[in-house]
Amino acid sequence: MSAGSAPVTERVAVLDFGAQYAQLIARSVRECGVYCELRSGDADPEQLKAEGFAAAILSGGPASVYGEGAPRAHPALWSSGLPLLGICYGHQLLSHALGGRVERATHAEYGGAEMEVTAAEGVLSGFPACTRVWMSHGDLVLEPPPGFVVCARTASTPVAVIANAARRIYGVQFHPEVAHTPLGLQVLRNFLFGVCALRATWSMERYADQAASAIRESVGPAGRAVAALSGGVDSAVATALVHRAIGGRLTAIFVDHGLQREAEAEEVTAAFAGAFPALRLIHVRAEERFLAALRGVIEPERKRRIIGAEFVAVFEEEAGRLGTVDFLVQGTIYPDVIESGGGASAKAATIKTHHNVGGLPERMRFRLVEPLRPLFKDEVRALGMELGLPASLLWRQPFPGPGLAIRILGEVTRDRLALVRRADAIVREELAPLGLGREIWQGFAVLPGARTVGVMGDVRTYGELVAVRAIASRDAMTADWARLPHDVLERISSRITNEVPGVNRVVYDITSKPPATIEWE
Ligand code: XMP
Repeated sequence: MSAGSAPVTERVAVLDFGAQYAQLIARSVRECGVYCELRSGDADPEQLKAEGFAAAILSGGPASVYGEGAPRAHPALWSSGLPLLGICYGHQLLSHALGGRVERATHAEYGGAEMEVTAAEGVLSGFPACTRVWMSHGDLVLEPPPGFVVCARTASTPVAVIANAARRIYGVQFHPEVAHTPLGLQVLRNFLFGVCALRATWSMERYADQAASAIRESVGPAGRAVAALSGGVDSAVATALVHRAIGGRLTAIFVDHGLQREAEAEEVTAAFAGAFPALRLIHVRAEERFLAALRGVIEPERKRRIIGAEFVAVFEEEAGRLGTVDFLVQGTIYPDVIESGGGASAKAATIKTHHNVGGLPERMRFRLVEPLRPLFKDEVRALGMELGLPASLLWRQPFPGPGLAIRILGEVTRDRLALVRRADAIVREELAPLGLGREIWQGFAVLPGARTVGVMGDVRTYGELVAVRAIASRDAMTADWARLPHDVLERISSRITNEVPGVNRVVYDITSKPPATIEWE
């Protein structure tokens, strides 16, 4: 555990068997007010108990329980006394392990199904006789293990829910964690509060208190910390939390590389000064230095490397002036931990290693304070609200670390920055009424560096082309271009050509990711 992760008392493990929805199960459990973490499917139950886990939920997964190399649970799990809830593959796995019969279904079942409830007890406590559930499976439990009762069935799934109340082991073939199962959260609540007798103790208010005391303890009575504010949500909330914990012993450094969006540097610094007047905040204006380093640079990866290296250099210089500082605050969040493969689950593939401030910890021999490590993004936002950060800061769209530099194709100059910055502000102003969310994940302007011929007031022009990109996404890993209303596109186009000098044409990017990426560089 890195310094500053809060101790949480009541907790549940999601044992991950490679499920698409393992994170969603953990999110749903937390939504019920119980802390939850992912662990590897074969986690040792004694270890889980030693870590304070009071129950385990076995996730779904793509394998067949009788298939070669199918992931197995730890053999001691079944007799560990931990209350268990198996979902989909988890349901089949526990049925198979405890002596039931699992087979390949003649027809795989995907999508909504009507489920008939024959015993409204245990995880189905309070359920009506018939309810809609969401199924996604190719195998079936045909006979429950000895000692288990069948509580529900659908037309194609004869053993949809099983229960052994004495052993507190339950299995459901459907997915309670997805929104398409309307009573799904009720299944989880029945398990957590009815079967396991847990209490709903997980809230951001409580987390803020617990995390602040944990930070105080690990930083010690005289320890000093420094935070790099980027303008993003995670670094802002981590900074606010550590400030609550150690007050004036934290200094925040905002490296203003001059590649920010319109009014961004002022908004971020003003938001912090307003919410935390006692925080020591150093605003380093380094635009000249970054522009000088980027002069003549065209190749995108070189731009990123230069900006990263310059950022580290500026930060080091400023931090060096503070005297002895032992800790660096980082805004690492739970999906980063899982994606980096350093998380709970050995099953989650390593997709990319995240560093909010690339290269800093290695070079500077700081100890890390990462107080957001256990949190999902929406929890980070809720915590930020709890700590008094303004909603305008917590609900910004994602913005890349290298900033507008990777939205200017070709050389980054002061004039081109001013142009793309204004166009970007117009795009964001016009998209604002539509709200941010999955439908519009990001919307921005790009300067492709192409010039085209136009006509303005009977005069021929040879001006800049601006591209507008707006995408729909769940997580930025894949994306589709947003189907923006034509009148919104019309306003964006006419405002950019009228209000941004030198631009005579606007195009809309209609490429998904893949094959394109979200950013143009
Ligand atoms: P791409 O362009 O790879 O972007 O489809 C995926 C998401 O990541 C953001 N992005 C970055 N964020 N540093 C960051 O902090 C970067 O270098 C960077 N490059 C892309 C991008 O805005 C999108 O949300």
